[in-house]
Amino acid sequence: MQPDERTMARLKAGCICKGVKLIRLIEAIENGAASFDEVAAATGIGDGPCQGKRCGEKVAALLEQYAGRRNG
Ligand code: FES
Repeated sequence: MQPDERTMARLKAGCICKGVKLIRLIEAIENGAASFDEVAAATGIGDGPCQGKRCGEKVAALLEQYAGRRNG
């Protein structure tokens, strides 16, 4: 991930319901979280009013992005 992407991720919402920034989700995945439940456990996302509908999509996209890097 490029430095400017990290900077943007500090500003962007990761989980709107719980007020968690995108960078927190990325850091959780970088620290080994490999599923939505593991990212949720590490960051406290997923149990807001939307029940993970919105942040779940973001986590799925990040996991896909990072899975390629881990395996490559
Ligand atoms: S956006 Fe994460 S629980 Fe709603």
